[in-house]
Amino acid sequence: MQTPYFIFKPEVLEKNFNELKSLCDKYLNNYVVAYSLKTNSYHELIKTLNSLGSHFEAASLDEINLVKNIKRLNILNGPAKTEEELKVALNNKSLINADSFSELDKIIKIIEGKKLEIGIRISLKESKFGFDETQLKEVFEKCNKNNLKIISLHFHCGTQLSLKEYENNLIKISKFFEKQDKILLQNIESFDKPQNSKLSKKDFDAISFGNEVKSKSSIDIKYINLGGGFPEKLKLKNLGCNLEDYFKLLTEYLDKIKKKYNVSIILEPGRVLVADAFDLITKVITIKNNFDETYAILDAGINVLPKVTLSNYKFSKLNQFKEFKTNPDRLDGKEKLLVNDNSKFNKKKQEYILAGPLLFNNDILGRFHGNLKENDLIKVENVGAYCYNLAWEISYKKPRIDKKDKNIFKG
Ligand SMILES: Cc1ncc(COP(=O)(O)O)c(C=O)c1O
Repeated sequence: MQTPYFIFKPEVLEKNFNELKSLCDKYLNNYVVAYSLKTNSYHELIKTLNSLGSHFEAASLDEINLVKNIKRLNILNGPAKTEEELKVALNNKSLINADSFSELDKIIKIIEGKKLEIGIRISLKESKFGFDETQLKEVFEKCNKNNLKIISLHFHCGTQLSLKEYENNLIKISKFFEKQDKILLQNIESFDKPQNSKLSKKDFDAISFGNEVKSKSSIDIKYINLGGGFPEKLKLKNLGCNLEDYFKLLTEYLDKIKKKYNVSIILEPGRVLVADAFDLITKVITIKNNFDETYAILDAGINVLPKVTLSNYKFSKLNQFKEFKTNPDRLDGKEKLLVNDNSKFNKKKQEYILAGPLLFNNDILGRFHGNLKENDLIKVENVGAYCYNLAWEISYKKPRIDKKDKNIFKG
């Protein structure tokens, strides 16, 4: 088979999805799991998640179109939504998380005075995304005036987060709710003399604004959207924790808020669902020595396994071929069974620098300890998150994806 190629393992994806769902059932009750399409948008993967009842989070027109026939609450995020994207998302009844005043203007122009429920993205740290807290008053006013009702607050804070980082974000979100409580609940009595109050000018502004919101009701929070952030399985193992630890934090910090506002939680998981659901098979093309190093040059490099994915890739050798016996009809007797290389057959192990085929000095993937020869196949695990979508076509085409045939690959 032409290398390199990805192998999709739907049974791993299904297991990951069901695990996440059972934690949601145990800790959240009301929730929406919306898979983040940019993590990997392979059509078979979308099909599998759709059959499992997943919702989807899109970040562009192409991604909206991938799920346009799936009639569930789908979400559109992104800081550069065009009018065309917004129109398609509205036609598909997606929940749009507005990211800027400019975007609100575009939405207002499109809806021409009709009512619309939207979400807004809020940044609790400096970034190009969403609104900062000081802009909320203006956001609510604009929504008030223009028939927009805010039903979702979106707080994606990062990816591959450690437990501590996740907790810090939840602390920030709980503080946000404490601070904005009156506006969000719209349940304040009239308040007209700030000078008689112990409240700061800022708090007074928030409260008096809350009165205004109450009458026009531009905010009725149904969802708190926490975005992504759960680390992939391999990282969880390295961090010495498990997914349930993250859910325990979720309940610790958000239970009260959930009850008070009567909201559902939206999660937009990406890598935790798909990272280990894909392998890559690549071939050793050249073994060479120079500058006292031995290089194993593969036919996949940083074009397929980019560093920006923040994933840890796991390399192992698959080089021992046996005739495939179990299903000769289907495979015409030509296929081979691949098994992991067993080091007892090997000479003394040595160290290789695993490099890719590109004409870039930094096309280096890592080090490999063992025995390699030209034409050996290398299995790379944990490549499901971002690798396929970020793979660049430079000198070589994007690798294709095969669905795993359990009978063929045992490695
Ligand atoms: C808005 C949003 N939601 C969800 C995700 C998925 O994150 P993860 O892969 O960490 O689950 C991302 C990724 O960056 C994102 O930007």
